[in-house]
Amino acid sequence: MAQGPYSDIVVDHFENPRNMGEIEAADGEAEVGNPTCGDVTKIFLKIEDGRIIDVKFKTFGCAAAIASASMTTELIKGKTLDEALKVTNELVAKELGGLPAAKVHCSVMAEEALQAAIKDYKKKSAG
Ligand code: FES
Repeated sequence: MAQGPYSDIVVDHFENPRNMGEIEAADGEAEVGNPTCGDVTKIFLKIEDGRIIDVKFKTFGCAAAIASASMTTELIKGKTLDEALKVTNELVAKELGGLPAAKVHCSVMAEEALQAAIKDYKKKSAG
């Protein structure tokens, strides 16, 4: 049953987040915060041969932020970096069965954290 403005999928990912946690010595990691609401998401990537073989996240934030980060990790696991970079917040919101307009920024935070973690990996591997 949907609760309030959220789809069943959002509620499921909020109650049972996928890939929550941390990766020690991650190949790429980033933390992104939203200054307006104060919520924060961290993403950790393990990368081998240009492919994301493991991903974990931590979110201090609202239900939509947790569900968006959880869905993002599900969508990028096993993907190449180029494929992962195509996982936009619109796609995440769609896969979640939609987000209320006031909660779209929560999915943007997940996308920004993903992009920043990939950037961190590229920076580290270039050096
Ligand atoms: Fe800010 Fe959800 S209310 S991330």
